[in-house]
Amino acid sequence: MNDYVLSIDQGTTSTRAVVFDHGGQIVGSGQKEHEQILPRAGWVEHDPQEIWRNTREVVGLALADANINRHSLAAVGITNQRETTAVWDRHTGEPVHNAIVWQDTRTQAICDELAGDVGPERYKERVGLPLATYFAGPKIRWILDNVEGARERAEAGDLMFGTMDSWLVWNMTGGPNGGVHITDVTNASRTMLMNIDTLDWNEEICADMGVPTSMLPEIRSSSEVYGHGHKQGLLIDTPISGILGDQQAATFGQACFEPGMGKNTYGTGNFMLMNTGEDVVRSENGLLTTVAYKIGEQNTIYALEGAVAVTGSLVQWLRDNLGIIRSAPESEEKAKKVEDNGGAYIVPAFSGLFAPYWKSDARGVIVGLTRYVNQNHLCRAALESVAYQSAEVVESMDEDAGRPLTELKVDGGMVVNETLMQFQADILGVDVVRPQVIETTALGAAYAAGLAVGFWKGTEEVTANWAEDKRWSPTMDAAERERSLRLWKKAVERSFDWVD
Ligand code: G3P
Repeated sequence: MNDYVLSIDQGTTSTRAVVFDHGGQIVGSGQKEHEQILPRAGWVEHDPQEIWRNTREVVGLALADANINRHSLAAVGITNQRETTAVWDRHTGEPVHNAIVWQDTRTQAICDELAGDVGPERYKERVGLPLATYFAGPKIRWILDNVEGARERAEAGDLMFGTMDSWLVWNMTGGPNGGVHITDVTNASRTMLMNIDTLDWNEEICADMGVPTSMLPEIRSSSEVYGHGHKQGLLIDTPISGILGDQQAATFGQACFEPGMGKNTYGTGNFMLMNTGEDVVRSENGLLTTVAYKIGEQNTIYALEGAVAVTGSLVQWLRDNLGIIRSAPESEEKAKKVEDNGGAYIVPAFSGLFAPYWKSDARGVIVGLTRYVNQNHLCRAALESVAYQSAEVVESMDEDAGRPLTELKVDGGMVVNETLMQFQADILGVDVVRPQVIETTALGAAYAAGLAVGFWKGTEEVTANWAEDKRWSPTMDAAERERSLRLWKKAVERSFDWVD
């Protein structure tokens, strides 16, 4: 009996596999972290082979945890950290370089050169994105420019590019022995190489970026059968039938199927997406235009996105780099020991600033320090920075949408942090709502895969499975909210223009 769907969530810090039942409930899971390779300031890499090894391991763990084997699976879905760029040899499967992670800022010079006199909005009309180090296209160019012989091999048709979805599907379906080289529309929409209106590769931009189109994957919908697990793997013959970039997957898992519905995910970074239906809405306020999903042959659904690079990873930084906490939950314990931030603000512009500023030359600052400030205040300031950054994204959403948000659906690892959720409601002045299943990223990819094979009949079933767990309402008065946001914005300005 095919009673379950498996979802593989290849994230920035770890890879998870989760088995879901028809009610959208978790019946088993496995997870493994991978190394963050930091060769120099601003550079972040992952080893694609390690990620592929971990993927196989966590699939085994999840099946064992659920006490099933692949015969019980109706389908497999994949969701992934977006933009992270791998280039590998199509004959051997060997990556030519570590994957360059979305947070990596090494492509600044390439982006500046491409912007030229026109500026960072040069391709925005065509691809929905400003030129920024965040996106994949310039990362491919960096690899081809900097790995010896790579450009020649790419031009000879020997290399393949892929975000993590493509890398995994290619390997899962056989790698050099007939693996399918594909991506879905949501991941392709983060490369800067795809026409946002027509969903095909833009040859002119590929030429500007020096990316041979022969190395690009085929762009497919987010929900269709792409291939089957290879005979040498654990998932032999199982249909692989859903791919969504992780933020789009969370939007899907939160059942945001109507225009105006949106969610905010609290992970390594924070990512807010609002469904804009079939309209390609161009932001006037620093948001990205992206594909939300496309189910098979159905029309494409778009979204506006506010991407914030550093939120959960700031808590990791407090733990790993400063050593003032031993675990992420300790940040909340310490933050709760003080009434407020003691006047301190942390602006974690570690990868420059993303939405709504898009300032690649910003760098992190801690301001407002006095002798009074202690590590509890810094923990509090770190949590508050997560909420402030999302509040600025909501301001942009409100302006672009022409109407204010009425409540915020949240998910991701940090939403277990009650102090943060209350502060988020306070600083937004609207309710914050958490669903029962906060693994919405994995769940969204499972839904996409299950819909393609008829395991779920339609998005109504997804909506019916969504259930509220908890709601936080604002308690802060308007004057205090206004003052806090004003000081936050002043702190943000201190982070600008830091790179020499
Ligand atoms: O765009 C980057 C985003 O997809 C990363 O998400 O959850 O791996 O931090 P996450």
